[in-house]
Amino acid sequence: MATIPAARESLGKSFRTDRWWVEPLRFGVIFGAFVVYATWALLQGAQNEHHIAEPYLSPLYAPNFAGFPWPDWWPDWLRTPALLILWAPLGFRLTCYYYRRSYYRSYFLSPPACAVGRLNIPYHGERGLLLLQNLHRYFVPFAVALVVINLHDTVLAFFFSNGFGIGLGTLILIVNVIGLAGYTFGCHSLRHMVGGGLDCFSCSLAARTRGRLWQVVTKFNENHGAWAWFSLVWIGFADFYVRLVSSGVIGDPRLILISA
Ligand code: FES
Repeated sequence: MATIPAARESLGKSFRTDRWWVEPLRFGVIFGAFVVYATWALLQGAQNEHHIAEPYLSPLYAPNFAGFPWPDWWPDWLRTPALLILWAPLGFRLTCYYYRRSYYRSYFLSPPACAVGRLNIPYHGERGLLLLQNLHRYFVPFAVALVVINLHDTVLAFFFSNGFGIGLGTLILIVNVIGLAGYTFGCHSLRHMVGGGLDCFSCSLAARTRGRLWQVVTKFNENHGAWAWFSLVWIGFADFYVRLVSSGVIGDPRLILISA
């Protein structure tokens, strides 16, 4: 593959007159804040169980690996159940086409926006470390499984110790699973899996089924960036809410419809 020479223009130089810097700055700040918060929340799991406020489970900890038999040599401060699952959503998001574009712009300034001078980092195509970006398609099944697991946890969030009902936490987890599904089912790789490699969407029952699935994924895919944002922020918010309830900082308003 031919090497694409680095741009010679100065960083940030552009004929654009709009506020092109707003998007990379916003992404850099919010995504960075999420990474810091998620790391803190992950490490908390080694010290307390505030990621659980029965019947709610923080989406950062789903599925729940509480009680995992850590080997003796494993450091105490890393005995957090979130560690066993976070590699899947992290790998899925870091290799996502939308996130890639955004963090290349925000953190590597290569370029910071279209038609704007970039940092002089040579680009050699997706080789070397960037080959890992091609793993995205392999994270798709795990991401779909996480949607199912979060849906399962959301259903459990209707079942309180004193009966069946609905709480503010239930509503927050419902919105969380909608955001997660909207993001996952708009994945570019998933879109190719369900509809790629076909010349005709109407020539057989299987092709028609794939064509319909492709249309659904395309609908979500049209706003993939918005779903990516929404689900990311909401996951952090849902975890924060569960922590506040679990640690007794706030109560969880709830309505019991059928008493146990
Ligand atoms: Fe964004 Fe697959 S491209 S999740």
